[in-house]
Amino acid sequence: QELKLNLEQIEKGGYNHFMLKEIYEQPNAIIDTYRGRLLANNGIIKMGSVDNNIAKFLNANKIIIVACGTSWHAGLVAEYLFEDLARIPVEVEYASEFRYRNPVINKGDVVIAISQSGETADTLAAIKLAKSKGAFVFGICNVVGSSIARETDTGAYTHAGPEIGVASTKAFTTQITVLTLMALKLGNLKGEISNSRFHAFLQEMTLIPSKIEETLKISSEIERIAAIYKDASNCLYLGRGYNFPVALEGALKLKEISYIHAEGYPAAEMKHGPIALIDESMPVVIIATNKGHYDKVVSNIQEIKSRNGKIIAVVTKGDTTVREIADHVIEIPETEEAFTPLLATIPLQLLSYYIAVMRGCDVDQPRNLAKSVTVE
Ligand code: G6P
Repeated sequence: QELKLNLEQIEKGGYNHFMLKEIYEQPNAIIDTYRGRLLANNGIIKMGSVDNNIAKFLNANKIIIVACGTSWHAGLVAEYLFEDLARIPVEVEYASEFRYRNPVINKGDVVIAISQSGETADTLAAIKLAKSKGAFVFGICNVVGSSIARETDTGAYTHAGPEIGVASTKAFTTQITVLTLMALKLGNLKGEISNSRFHAFLQEMTLIPSKIEETLKISSEIERIAAIYKDASNCLYLGRGYNFPVALEGALKLKEISYIHAEGYPAAEMKHGPIALIDESMPVVIIATNKGHYDKVVSNIQEIKSRNGKIIAVVTKGDTTVREIADHVIEIPETEEAFTPLLATIPLQLLSYYIAVMRGCDVDQPRNLAKSVTVE
């Protein structure tokens, strides 16, 4: 018994929980993801499975993404990436819905299946359906040799290393890294991203791990905010554009491990419902980085403020406008708008982690949840 405990402590590498360890592993996990693929100094993205099927990607009428849970949120980020950077239309589907609809899949459509475990039953079934209709299926998995990795036509591993915490963290950011590399590559080949812009993107990508490190350094500030809101019974997460899926993922993390009811919304949809919930006991986490839609997000923050909601804002370093209105600000470094999800996700992971710990929850093994859902 004593030996087992010690082994577990060794496995956690000095962290109290696997989840925290995995949050802190993200800078290195992302480097592992892009190692050998992102050749920034040569201005090249090399991905064998994409390169070998490049015509399929470049001629695709649309990309259909199937996934569940956090991986589905990575798919939503990819919708913004592929449309914005490569001008390819994208549909993002819950695998469980897709498999039982009668989805329109045309020959020449590319299906991307995203799964940390590579074993999720619904995602596997969606892949089989897409294949039976003649689609080319590309998998993005973390677990090497998993069922989904084997069932797909080809794919790319995230190389995030084992993820033990049930709530997904480094798998999510490494999935987004793979998808970003793909979108950048296709965007450049399609002439949507000029070579000089492409080079700038690649250089910026190499800075993401250190920018995540920087964000991890303010964890004690996030812990202080967590202490203030740990007893909340509801929490709203808002974001626009690239940060909308980040808001969904932030809300999912909080409900998974702290059992606080949390909802993510596109910030502008607030006025169509959630605004009715806002009062002085409602914390609202809002991602207000300085790129796209900044002014609109600021006016959303003002709407929350005038209803006495408590505002926790994730902003770009140096922001002063939001600081004046928000109750708390969490700063992340400046980056390309398309890379914002990789940074904005980090403080939200930490916030839910600290709240869950303070509430005495079993962070690594939340009640009723499983790491991989191999049944329907
Ligand atoms: C479970 C896990 C989630 C995960 C989802 C999809 O619900 O608890 O963390 O996002 O399955 O898993 P996958 O392995 O397919 O990414």
